[in-house]
Amino acid sequence: MAADVELIVDVPRLEEKIILEEIGRSGLRFKLTNAKYTPLLWEENPAEISLIRTISMQRAAYCAAIREASGAKAINPLDAILTAGDKILTLSRFWRAGIPFPETVIALNGEAAERAEKLVKFPVIDKPPIGSWGRLVTLVKDSQSFKSIVEHRELYQSQALKTHLIQRYVDGGRDLRILVLGEEVLGAIWRSASSGDWRSNVARGGLVKMAELDEELRELALKVSSVIGGEFIAIDIFKENERYLVNEVNGVPEFKGFMEATRINVPRKLIEYVKELLRR
Ligand SMILES: Nc1ncnc2c1ncn2[C@@H]1O[C@H](COP(=O)(O)OP(=O)(O)O)[C@@H](O)[C@H]1O
Ligand SMILES: [Mg+2]
Repeated sequence: MAADVELIVDVPRLEEKIILEEIGRSGLRFKLTNAKYTPLLWEENPAEISLIRTISMQRAAYCAAIREASGAKAINPLDAILTAGDKILTLSRFWRAGIPFPETVIALNGEAAERAEKLVKFPVIDKPPIGSWGRLVTLVKDSQSFKSIVEHRELYQSQALKTHLIQRYVDGGRDLRILVLGEEVLGAIWRSASSGDWRSNVARGGLVKMAELDEELRELALKVSSVIGGEFIAIDIFKENERYLVNEVNGVPEFKGFMEATRINVPRKLIEYVKELLRR
């Protein structure tokens, strides 16, 4: 008999371990798949729901595609994983939906980036469309540093890593992170950069604190979630002069810092949500 729920991982983090413990307590029939070691098949009888929790975005997309092809529900769905996994695709959906984000110029190679420089004012943020944990996200203060970053990025084989999002730097040193599960906004935290970095990523030692969730923020988070097509996502938002600017969406969200700051049991919520879907 097929399982109720499958957890797909590659390199399990704390998040995957506590999700697995919660599944173990739930009484659901479950299957654990490590996509690094297990060949994947388009199965006749997949688990009803696949929780996709690989670190690699590419792997997450393939797992979601294979499971959805067999009729399973992937969390997150393939479309959400692909869109959230690429910042240009994300911002394009935002633009269409009228969701505010920091002014951004896209340059698909070095030459375009050099021209893009004329369109922006330093300091700017330069980042590639893919990646996480703040990797290659650079605060660029002048033209000379910008030129050398462009030169370095041209050396990568990957087309995505030669691609630039050149973005207005939003000052403040902190941002909001909001978790959304289905139609529920679970909560919000402030993340601020620790000393020695300017990026707020928890993976870089960013500090966390519980944040107030006002109605405007709640509505914005639900709008972002529906535009991305996410089931379980994290949204990063800047607050500037009482205005919210959405930075990005994470389709395989880490939530260790969120749990620490809010005391919300995220894996419990997630598995309750899975049970609710199975009852429908
Ligand atoms: N436009 C920006 N203005 C100010 N800080 C930024 C900007 N873009 C990114 N950052 C900082 O860099 C961090 C990482 O950037 P982000 O776009 O979230 O990429 P990643 O996917 O690596 O988390 C953010 O958490 C934030 O602290
Ligand atoms: Mg981020």
